[in-house]
Amino acid sequence: MEINLLEITLRPFNLMDADNLLSYAGDDQVTRNLRWKTLTSKDEALTFIKDVCIPHPWRRSICINNRSIGFITVFPGSGDDRCKADIGYGVAPKYWGQGVATQAVKMALPQVFKDLPEVVRLQAFVFVENKASQRVVEKAGFQKEGLLRKYCYIKGVLRDLFVYSFLSTDFPNSQD
Ligand SMILES: CC(C)(COP(=O)(O)OP(=O)(O)OC[C@H]1O[C@@H](n2cnc3c(N)ncnc32)[C@H](O)[C@@H]1OP(=O)(O)O)[C@@H](O)C(=O)NCCC(=O)NCCS
Repeated sequence: MEINLLEITLRPFNLMDADNLLSYAGDDQVTRNLRWKTLTSKDEALTFIKDVCIPHPWRRSICINNRSIGFITVFPGSGDDRCKADIGYGVAPKYWGQGVATQAVKMALPQVFKDLPEVVRLQAFVFVENKASQRVVEKAGFQKEGLLRKYCYIKGVLRDLFVYSFLSTDFPNSQD
């Protein structure tokens, strides 16, 4: 399905997103690279929106014409880790390969630093096998910092990850 990147918007989730959320968060192609359990019903999608998405400090629905076609999430640290936040995202498979995730991350970056003023470092942890996600952060301007070998278990499998970062001072016109 062809889309116009200029029509992409980011907004908080609401309960009306349940069917669309289920269509991609219920798809193993999307969830296999995430910590999320794959959703299996509309009730699970509604509970997930109510209990996880709405109270979340920074989780946005990636939309076309207000229809949710993906998500982008930022997990801010606390205490001595309040300077940094982790970013994650996913897009419904029928929209892959058209620049949607890259556009969404580019749109999110200034918003995140504005909404979470203590965060100066946004970091992305990407499986070495996940070439599409590596391209997304590279195209959005993140720097690759290195390989984290046998870093953590995801769904029971011990994984190698690349770590990328984008600092609040990395915007092209930053004065700092
Ligand atoms: C990763 C994901 C979000 C990318 O979404 P998308 O909207 O297709 O991303 P974009 O179109 O902006 O960019 C994808 C890039 O990856 C490239 N790509 C896709 N599959 C690839 C592969 N197997 N090998 C190399 N590059 C690949 C595309 O060609 C494109 O790069 P290009 O513009 O240089 O050609 C999507 O695949 C997804 O939802 N995956 C499941 C969830 C996930 O992995 N999330 C990330 C967790 S860190």
